[in-house]
Amino acid sequence: MDKLVIRGGNPLLGTVRISGAKNAALPCMAAALLTDEPVILENIPQVRDIETTRKLLAAMGAEVELGYGRAQHRTTICARTLAAPEASYELVKTMRASTLVLGPLVARCGRARVSLPGGCAIGARPIDLHIKGLERLGAKITQEHGYVEAVTDRLRGAEIVFDRITVTGTEDLLMAATLADGETIMQNCAREPEVADLAALLNAMGANIEGAGTSTIRVKGVTKLHGARHRIIPDRVEAGTFIVAAALTGGDLNVAGCDPAHLTAILQKLVETGVKTVVKTDSVRVMGDQPLQAADMDTEEYPGFPTDMQAQYMALTTQAAGTSIITENIFENRFMHAQELVRMGANIKIEGRRAIVCGGTPLSAAAVLASDLRASASLVLAALVADGETIIDRVYHLDRGYENIEEKLKAVGAEIRRVGNIFPKRAPTPTQS
Ligand code: EPZ
Repeated sequence: MDKLVIRGGNPLLGTVRISGAKNAALPCMAAALLTDEPVILENIPQVRDIETTRKLLAAMGAEVELGYGRAQHRTTICARTLAAPEASYELVKTMRASTLVLGPLVARCGRARVSLPGGCAIGARPIDLHIKGLERLGAKITQEHGYVEAVTDRLRGAEIVFDRITVTGTEDLLMAATLADGETIMQNCAREPEVADLAALLNAMGANIEGAGTSTIRVKGVTKLHGARHRIIPDRVEAGTFIVAAALTGGDLNVAGCDPAHLTAILQKLVETGVKTVVKTDSVRVMGDQPLQAADMDTEEYPGFPTDMQAQYMALTTQAAGTSIITENIFENRFMHAQELVRMGANIKIEGRRAIVCGGTPLSAAAVLASDLRASASLVLAALVADGETIIDRVYHLDRGYENIEEKLKAVGAEIRRVGNIFPKRAPTPTQS
């Protein structure tokens, strides 16, 4: 079991380069199931969830090449034939985003058998809205033995209104609608940049989508999609995490290769806490030379403050003068990091969906436990300013969504090392030139 050992106290100085967005790469990899031609995706992050998705697609019969290296970070996926349009519990239980294959498989093969994801540390994570949308498109859905089975002769366009905003629900149904017979209009859609990135790939594959990135998306179904090449957008949550790290450690950090247009709510909130930033077209310079001030924060769907940055923001507020009230509006159990931060000396009280953080308390190193992807990021941030050497266990959670985080942090001055089995880095598979 991997552990990270971090000695706090060093300001982060220099430049860190942001990787491709995990939450854009996952739906784009699933989109390759919609065609029998090769789909090439560039700027793929080297994280565990991508490896899990590679296994998932290969198990269905798709050919998946995945290579990392200076020029690469690329995957080529060719779903020429799909012998087994299924997603097994073994894989889905490790990554609930596997349900993203449901829509593409039904649309392409006329059938799909996908394990229900079950809950995870941050909440129940149902997929009822995915299922309701597929039924609106004409799929016949049954659920038994922990699996969802969907069949159809051909999906047909429909009007879909999401009962609540769902990111992968929007993505799943967007992919399904591209091959439906007729027009689909989806309302109350998620507006996250990852949805628009998926739509850009789908349109490059020959789909006819308008309005992605807004709450109403129109899709005119086509009979076939072809291969395409697409570059994944930068990871706005990784960028936000490093921005908070620079602010927390009183550093001066250039966060390069990001898209500041995706960071508006994060940057606005950090400026409110006293952080200085210089925003350029593809980078943000963060100067943490001012004392941090408390500021309340509510998580909201995009373009609001992202729930995936809530744990990181909580770590920041433990060092801000005053009391910050953090309200988590998206998931019902996303404060698992709070108790670990309290063990490091933070003063945090949880009241339902609200966390009351009385800041300005020095943090001291401790042995702590990561519980989910973003909670583990929050513990890394706290360790960067804690007095002494913090040991974070179960960092496989971190490896799901952060590429080479210890190398990136070490390169800008953090005292950090990984002990235990190193996350097996896949050797780049030889790719045709
Ligand atoms: C996506 O998850 C992200 N994952 C999550 O990032 C992110 O936290 C979340 O969106 C919210 O922004 C990927 O994109 C792979 P939702 P998703 O459907 O799509 C409820 C990370 O750290 N809901 O937008 O699963 C749900 O319970 C991960 O990278 C239903 O009730 O989230 C939640 O309360 C964590 N029924 C709310 O909607 C449904 O059918 C929003 O969930 C679907 C969702």
